Amino acid sequence: MAIQESRGSKLGKNLKKVLGLKTPVAPAKASTVRPTPMFDARKAGQAATVKQLEHAARQNMFMHFTRHSQFESSAIPIITRAEGHHFWDQNGKKYFDGISSLFSVNIGHGRERLAEAAAKQMKQLDYFPIWSNLHAPAIELSERILSYAPKSLSRVFYTTGGGEANETAWKLAKQYFKMTGKPMKHKVISRMTAYHGTSHGALSLTGIAAMKKQFEPLVPSTFRVPNTNWYRAQDDFENEEAFADWAASRVEEMILFEDPDTVAAFILEPVQNSGGCFTSPKSYFKKVREICDKYDVLIIADETIDGFGRIGTMFASELYEFEPDMLVCAKGITSAYQPLGALMVAEKLFEPFKKGTAIFPHGYTFAGHPVACAVALENLDIFEEEDLVGNVRRNAPAFRKTLEKLKDLPIVGDVRGEGYFYAIELVKDKNTRETFNDAESEKLLRGFLSTDLYDAGLYCRSDDRGDPVVQLAPPLTIGQTEFDELEQTLRASLSKAWNLF
Ligand SMILES: Cc1ncc(COP(=O)(O)O)c(C=O)c1O
Repeated sequence: MAIQESRGSKLGKNLKKVLGLKTPVAPAKASTVRPTPMFDARKAGQAATVKQLEHAARQNMFMHFTRHSQFESSAIPIITRAEGHHFWDQNGKKYFDGISSLFSVNIGHGRERLAEAAAKQMKQLDYFPIWSNLHAPAIELSERILSYAPKSLSRVFYTTGGGEANETAWKLAKQYFKMTGKPMKHKVISRMTAYHGTSHGALSLTGIAAMKKQFEPLVPSTFRVPNTNWYRAQDDFENEEAFADWAASRVEEMILFEDPDTVAAFILEPVQNSGGCFTSPKSYFKKVREICDKYDVLIIADETIDGFGRIGTMFASELYEFEPDMLVCAKGITSAYQPLGALMVAEKLFEPFKKGTAIFPHGYTFAGHPVACAVALENLDIFEEEDLVGNVRRNAPAFRKTLEKLKDLPIVGDVRGEGYFYAIELVKDKNTRETFNDAESEKLLRGFLSTDLYDAGLYCRSDDRGDPVVQLAPPLTIGQTEFDELEQTLRASLSKAWNLF
């Protein structure tokens, strides 16, 4: 067995003594000092060059959700600046940010006011945790986001993103039921193909097997019910309401199957991103609410993407006239200028923590960071001043209509979504709605579309976590000129894609 030399420390020597090992005569020579050209440049007051960045990116970086092998023969894109709905790479090439970077930059890039708000806050109070203390930006922001939220919600628990907020929601649901005499209620029902984050708990709620299998076994006690993929269900039901009624009934079936005494919550995105912008009629939410009330099951609305104007109301729950017990938001809360997430909860969930020694033993160092909260407030001021939610509401029908023009292409099976959030589902046969098999989907999406669209200057998502889709979620500032540009770029790439088969 090799014992790692701990740099000649006492501990290392003692360990060897105990194990009866001899100290090697010549300790391994330390490798030569690493070159640090960018640090050297920085010390000389110079910026790193593109060449240095590209080299170090290959040497040092471990990117998120990235197939690194794709960069064996091409440069890693390095984004150098952004403004409005555009960004630029290291070669000065300009791109249309068709998914608000990661469904996040709702007000568009390059707003100096947010930078100024951050600087002002840093100068006054750079950081303080919200553990038994508070600061003004966190308090002010809680009032602000609750003012946009369903009336059922009255308390804010900050996180640094959506996954942490989902994690928090599950932990809170478990503790709440333990404190209120239903200690066995701990299971959570979620929907097929839904994405709720990457930490063990949030990933357990996720309904995408391919994303989970590397990490199994995950947290037990989560169960999946169908989502509301109407495009794939319409042959079997009279209308969308009938399908939604069936889908909602699956929640009741699962609660009963698992035993209501053990089920704590049902989590759903009002418009489900993964799988491609699945919407539901209002009747779905009404029925799900009734079912969950009947069995004392909490509803968690994951509005990580849907929130902050994305679908034409501040929160999607408003559009669907739906009152969850907990609402998760992130991304658009700061338009991604700072990392922040929040879980808003109904007063009944806070009630047990009001007395005695009760505590929710959960939190994050950077959650509710004063700079992030100050930036969020400024971001929301811009929402108000520019009526961005109104802009989405007014323009959404035109956006949809423009994208629906793509339906004349043989590869486009469906265009669906809400507000400024759309998916274009790609099919092999639009009459039968036959989809591409795994190999074809690989060739279509990773092998062609992602690169072709990016080369054409459009950043959007081509994905097959469900069936193959291209997704758009642009900044909420754009209008008809940009809808047309998006349609034309997509038309060119999708036409070429059809010729692959
Ligand atoms: C619906 C939904 N929930 C949760 C998450 C995870 O959020 P984060 O990456 O901020 O943890 C995402 C991320 O895209 C999401 O779309």
